[in-house]
Amino acid sequence: MPDKVNILLVGGGGREHAIATAIARSPRVGDLWTTHPENPGLAKLARAVDVPVSAREIYRLQQFCDHKKIGLVVVGPEEPLAEGFADKLASPTRVVFGPIAEAARLEADKAWAKQVMRSASIPTADSRMFNDFTAAKSYVETREEAPVIKAAGLAKGKGVIVAATKEEAIAALERIMVQKVFGDAGRTVVVEERLEGPEVSVLAIVDGRNILVLPPCQDHKRLGDNDTGPNTGGMGAFCPSNTLTPDVMETVEREILVPTIDAMRRDGIDYRGVLYAGLMLTPAGPKVLEFNVRFGDPECQPLMTRLKSDVVELMLATCAGKLDRIDVEWSDQPACCVVLAAKGYPDKPRAGDVISGLDQAEKLPGVSVFHAGTKRNDKGQIVTSGGRVLGVTALGVDLPDARRRAYEAADLINFDGKVMRRDIGASA
Ligand code: AMP
Ligand code: GLY
Repeated sequence: MPDKVNILLVGGGGREHAIATAIARSPRVGDLWTTHPENPGLAKLARAVDVPVSAREIYRLQQFCDHKKIGLVVVGPEEPLAEGFADKLASPTRVVFGPIAEAARLEADKAWAKQVMRSASIPTADSRMFNDFTAAKSYVETREEAPVIKAAGLAKGKGVIVAATKEEAIAALERIMVQKVFGDAGRTVVVEERLEGPEVSVLAIVDGRNILVLPPCQDHKRLGDNDTGPNTGGMGAFCPSNTLTPDVMETVEREILVPTIDAMRRDGIDYRGVLYAGLMLTPAGPKVLEFNVRFGDPECQPLMTRLKSDVVELMLATCAGKLDRIDVEWSDQPACCVVLAAKGYPDKPRAGDVISGLDQAEKLPGVSVFHAGTKRNDKGQIVTSGGRVLGVTALGVDLPDARRRAYEAADLINFDGKVMRRDIGASA
């Protein structure tokens, strides 16, 4: 790789704004390009890709990468990974950070992920797979407890129903398998034992062979304070999380991460990129709820804020299978990210509300405001344009300080119908 590398970042949410911010700090970055210039945060840091971004017309993006001499492509979200962007954009002169489609199945096909876990004896909830509604329904009826129902495919984070009763579970099966609300993503359904315990995420960077476990993060998935209300993509996150003791982290690495990568390798699948394990800390030890094949959103925001090393070096080393040759340093300061969501999130977020106070918030020491669902309107004002609007992230001398700073900044930002939790990081 030459000294300066031109980089294409695929994806347009808060996670990608955080990644772009870290990339922009790197002395290695040449030109940085974004597929989502409508995100005002990304537009400030990167140039706009001016060809269609789709799997169907991937040759347009390939030509773009050749023409602009892109040396590194970073893929943020799961859909393009599942669609094979990593396979198709790699070339003899270009590497891609993010797993190939075969490996991305770990997230894109929960039924397959369950098989991988079973074959490698990785601790996870007991489950059964169904393609037929009647069979799935009879199975649920025979169970003592209400199970968790999961569409096997990608359903934009909405495909998991933690049913309170068996009736609710059957209603979910009917929506997925009969009404087909998630389309093909619901062709296979996983019916899973409900686990109890604190929920944590462990993220690692994998270079095919070496595993670099990242500092533990904790996400807050429910919409309301004290974990009430509907599940969301995540209403805030903090890092490091003390729920995960070094002991538990060691167990997760030994019993979950290493066997997963080994199982993939046995199948001839070279896993390079982020491996994210969503875990429940049950009385019987940590068990896998899901795998993701990318950084979490919003977990990425505190992670990137705390990363002191050069993220471009880190990504290039991952692609080259040389993670063991670099040292990765994190800030001693914890980080806390508070998500500001739009009115109506997660069901029907309202778009078009004018956002004020961004400049004041960003001026506070240690604060970064990451754009997720925002855009500029005709008048040049920044308005809401998605469910999760902003991720207000702050570093602090300790977690309470990081929380205080994040909330101070979050309170300076206003828009009609702003929704945020008041307890991000409070349980720690
Ligand atoms: P997933 O997309 O698989 O992480 O599921 C979304 C959310 O549903 C998780 O973050 C958990 O809060 C919950 N969940 C998933 N699987 C289970 C399970 N087996 N037991 C209890 N809760 C679950
Ligand atoms: N924050 C959860 C996720 O990214 O899946």
